[in-house]
Order: sequence, then structure tokens, then C-alpha cells
Amino acid sequence: MLAPSTCGAAPQRCDQRGHGATIHPDHEEKTLVPQDPLATPLFPRTSRYHPDWIRSSVSGGANSLWLTEWLTQAMTLQPGMRVLDLGCGRGASSIFLHHEFDVQVWATDLWFGADERLHRIRDAGADHAVFPIHADARSLPFAAGFFDAVVSIDSFVYYGTDDLYLNYLARFVRPGGQIGIAGAGLTQEIDGPVPEHLRGWWEPSMACLHSAHWWHRHWERSGIASMDLADTMTDGWKHWLAWQQAIAPDNEAEINVLNADRGRHLGYVRAVARRRSDTALDEPVSSVPVTYTKQPLFRT
Ligand SMILES: C[S@@+](CC[C@H](N)C(=O)[O-])C[C@H]1O[C@@H](n2cnc3c(N)ncnc32)[C@H](O)[C@@H]1O
Repeated sequence: MLAPSTCGAAPQRCDQRGHGATIHPDHEEKTLVPQDPLATPLFPRTSRYHPDWIRSSVSGGANSLWLTEWLTQAMTLQPGMRVLDLGCGRGASSIFLHHEFDVQVWATDLWFGADERLHRIRDAGADHAVFPIHADARSLPFAAGFFDAVVSIDSFVYYGTDDLYLNYLARFVRPGGQIGIAGAGLTQEIDGPVPEHLRGWWEPSMACLHSAHWWHRHWERSGIASMDLADTMTDGWKHWLAWQQAIAPDNEAEINVLNADRGRHLGYVRAVARRRSDTALDEPVSSVPVTYTKQPLFRT
């Protein structure tokens, strides 16, 4: 789920599978019923997008449109707003944000290049409003207070667990602006050893996965943001599983662990907060000016 190596592998696997069709067993003439696991009434906005387009923009272990749709249900995005899509991968969520909410989006990512993203953005007719940026979330090239909102889909765990990160990121958001994250996480924190049934799939880097309660505490105690909400998707593990089965059916380790866990620990988590107007942020420190004064090294 988390390793960069999974990201590129999925599209090939899903191309092999395509979106096939099955024979409906109850129908006299055995009509073909299209199998379309990516269309579900639970995510009506996402269901408008072509499955081939979604599959060809896969950049991680989750359906970025489902997560973006779920996250934005808890945010207030208005036409013309400036949105930072942080860790946008190959940019599907950025295009979705523009098409669905008529916002301007700075589609920013580290592992995936901006050139491929720009092709996708142009083909979606969105290059006047979605701008591909190649940057590290810890070294962002934006002006203070520039954004009305930050959205981060299945990415924030890679850098945002740092206690100091929210202070850094909030600097780029206007006071009162929203910061929203959604992605794979835990339904409850794992305080002791990793449970037996997760061990076949677990990697050390998965220590970055956290529960909604953890994110609530992590952000609230900084005093930088006031929480709108932090919660867990109902049956999130089933959506996680459905997506894996659709795009990477040979990813047995992840599919098996999701089936074994059944949402006891694994699921989708989201959190939304607003930058407080009454808290002054610490300015970033990039250098401390000092002057050398020569002194004897030892006592005589
Ligand atoms: C699991 S992928 C998710 C991509 C996309 N948001 C999606 O949901 O399909 C994680 C993404 O986080 C991005 N990421 C990880 N560390 C980052 C960093 N330090 N700065 C910017 N992006 C980062 C990666 O480039 C990658 O695209």
C-alpha cells in the first residue's frame, strides 16, 4: 500500500483485467452485465468518470477520486478558490477538484513528474486552472497565505506526522483556510506489537499509519488549527479491498490482510481543520546569523 514500488505496478495489472463483463445467470437470454466496480452510488461524483481514465492515472494503493469525494463532503470549496493538492500523484484528484468545484488547483507531487501530469491535465481541458508542480512537501515553492485550502489524498502520512509540519504547512494557507487529508489509516491505534494477522503485509514504514483520533489530537494540540472533524469511513476496508481487487487482483498480500482484518485496524481516515486566525505561526528558520569571536581554546 505505502511503498513507492506499488504505485507504478498497478496500471499494468489493471490493463490486463480491463473492465470485463459477466453472463447474468438469471436472464433468459444471458445478457452481458458490465462489471464496473468503480461505479457506486456511494460515490456519485466519481462514478461519472471513465474507468479507463481512473485506471490510467493510478498513483497509489487507493482510489484517489473516492477519497477526494469523501474528503470534500466535509470541506467548503467554492468557485475560484486556490487549492493546494499536496502529494497529488499523477493528478487525477486535482482534475476532479477543478471539475467538481471550479477551483484552481496547484497539483503538487514529489515521486511523479510534472510532465506526464500536464498531459493528463491538458486532455481534461483543465490546464487553465490546474497547475502541475514538482516539489517536496517539506520545501514548498509558494507564498505565505496563498491558498484558501489544502487537500492531501493518501499522502500526508509520508511527512505530516512530524510534530512541526502543520506549522510549516499552515503558513501557505490564509487564516481561516481549510486543511483536509484523507487516506489509508487505522481504525484504532496499535499500541503493542503488530497483530499477528497483519504481519505478512506490514512493513516498518507503516508505523506512519494512524487513527482519526490520533490526527485529531496531533493537530488540535498544536494550537495552529481548529478541528472541523476527524473520522473513519464507514466500511472503508471494503472500499480499500474493492479497489485492490479491481486494479491489482494479484496483490494477494494486501487482499488477504484486508479480508483477515475486516476493518478491525485498517480503514480510511480523514481530518479537516482550519488555520486559526488568533495563533501566530513560527517563521521558518533557514539560517541563524552568527559572528565568530576568537577565544583561547584551553585555560592556561
Ligand atoms: C500513495 S501515493 C498517493 C498519490 C495520490 N494522491 C493518490 O491518491 O493516488 C503517495 C503520494 O505522496 C507523494 N509524496 C510522498 N512524500 C512526499 C513529499 N515529501 N512531498 C510531496 N509529495 C510526497 C508521492 O509523490 C505520492 O504521489
